Amino acid sequence: MHVHRHWDRSKGGEKMVAKSGSRCCCCCWFLGIIVVIAVVLAVVFTIRHRANHSDDIAPGSTDKKYADALKIAMQFFNIQKSGKLENNKIPWRGDSGLKDGSEASLDLSKGLYDAGDHMKFGFPMAFTATLLSWSILEYGDHMDSLDQLDPAKDSLKWTTDFLINAHPSPNVLYIQVGDPETDHKCWDRPETMSRKRTLTKIDADTPGTEVAAETAAAMAAASLVFKESDTKYSGTLLKHAKQLFDFADNNRASYSVNIPEVQSYYNSTGYGDELLWAASWLYHATEDKTYLDFVSKNGEEFGNFGSPTWFSWDNKLPGTHVLLSRLTFFKKGLSGSKGLQGYKETAEAVMCGLIPDSPTATSSRTDGGLIWVAEWNALQHPVSSAFLATLYSDYMLTSGVDKLSCGDTSFKPSDLRKFARSQADYMLGKNPETMSYLVGYGDKYPEFVHHRGASIPGDANTGCKDGFKWLNSDEPNPNVAYGALVGGPFLNETFIDARNNSMQNEPSTYNSALVVGLLSSLVTRSSSVESFK
Ligand SMILES: *[C@@H]1O[C@H](CO)[C@@H](O)[C@H](O)[C@H]1NC(C)=O
Ligand SMILES: *[C@@H]1O[C@H](CO)[C@@H](O)[C@H](O)[C@H]1NC(C)=O
Ligand SMILES: *[C@@H]1O[C@H](CO)[C@@H](O)[C@H](O)[C@H]1NC(C)=O
Repeated sequence: MHVHRHWDRSKGGEKMVAKSGSRCCCCCWFLGIIVVIAVVLAVVFTIRHRANHSDDIAPGSTDKKYADALKIAMQFFNIQKSGKLENNKIPWRGDSGLKDGSEASLDLSKGLYDAGDHMKFGFPMAFTATLLSWSILEYGDHMDSLDQLDPAKDSLKWTTDFLINAHPSPNVLYIQVGDPETDHKCWDRPETMSRKRTLTKIDADTPGTEVAAETAAAMAAASLVFKESDTKYSGTLLKHAKQLFDFADNNRASYSVNIPEVQSYYNSTGYGDELLWAASWLYHATEDKTYLDFVSKNGEEFGNFGSPTWFSWDNKLPGTHVLLSRLTFFKKGLSGSKGLQGYKETAEAVMCGLIPDSPTATSSRTDGGLIWVAEWNALQHPVSSAFLATLYSDYMLTSGVDKLSCGDTSFKPSDLRKFARSQADYMLGKNPETMSYLVGYGDKYPEFVHHRGASIPGDANTGCKDGFKWLNSDEPNPNVAYGALVGGPFLNETFIDARNNSMQNEPSTYNSALVVGLLSSLVTRSSSVESFK
């Protein structure tokens, strides 16, 4: 069947509506004057507003479309939860994977199932946690205004609880629960699976720099999220992050080389990006200069300076370029730092590639304007690119930088945001198929999502094999996998809503983390990125 998740080897508003009083109080002349003044003010404000933020929403207001979509997107993490569920709100989900880890006397019951199957893959799961942390750090206040901050932190902690337990000693990290070959021979609900849950680990004899470093990045970023609300937990995460970074750095080797079986699923094309990404997060979490020195010294070797690439579960470089630019934007002492220059310049090159009118605009787009790089999980790249673009736009706005130069043309923060919105809008239905690729959003979304739990009725007690009748059924999924972002369209913008079409119709948890980041940035007008401490 499916599983080619590894094919992205591409390193390579609404306008302001004036709300004047609608009550008619005819004979009160002064009220009339107030109304006139209000209208004049509203018009002036609207004009100024349009001039500054051509098609952005009003300050302080929320864009309902993105707010609705964010609330839906957030639900997919709950659908993917393994373990003994708490406050479960998904009627067709229950406890599962309770004995995961028992083979090594560890509790690996928590964490998130990766996609439509029941695998827990540490590499993308850690990336999911890093992204979700980043989104919370930058846009937690936006999430909070929609009551989505606590759910986001809850889903993050569900993941980092797993990662902590998966790291029982400094140089041992469990990176996989379940054997994909065995797992993919079954089509069942996670609640009823009874097969052996094989564990895979890295250690000093069989190291894996990418996965150790990505897990370090996740824990360092999450330590910042919990810094104030749960100091002890934050300290625990940071301790693990530091140990894992040392493990990754002192035992440099690719996990895909040492454990070739992982190549069929999440094959890594190199670990330099994860080392830089992890060190960047550790610097943000600790302000320990050692980590800054690391990124300065290793940038030339691993940073791919000057060449824009695509941000994905395999390639953390564009994320690193943007994250380190944050320092040059906001930390006065570091703005001229030579070691950070290459990162900043490359972040600019990435941004210039994304803006459609830029002289260096990428040609990797569909006719409808969607960034399109790979046919497997096509939406990963537009969504990750749009997320980075809104971040960069907000960094510019907050630090008072109003110009991005691309060749001989210059652009404004609003140009980046406009690009980001175009990708989000496409994803939400503004496309030739008029299909929302975010399941549960809008009138038309995929109904045959490649997702075992969603495809089998909650009361069906299937075993491993007899569940395949649900994969092959002509009926739409009995359960809606709210918040699943499916793979997405072909380059020609067509899409086949079939359950066996895992290339286009399988969601993943890291896609949801990207979508949550993008939508939480777009729900309200770009602003100072306040919640990042
Ligand atoms: C995994 O990635 C490595 C490095 O890019 C590559 O040489 C190898 O062929 C890939 N394996 C598969 C199965 O695609
Ligand atoms: C669109 O592209 C897909 C994948 O390349 C192809 O199978 C399909 O036939 C194309 N559809 C049209 C209408 O061109
Ligand atoms: C899915 O099933 C349909 C109908 O049986 C078949 O035509 C198609 O080739 C299958 N697609 C894949 C990707 O297996």
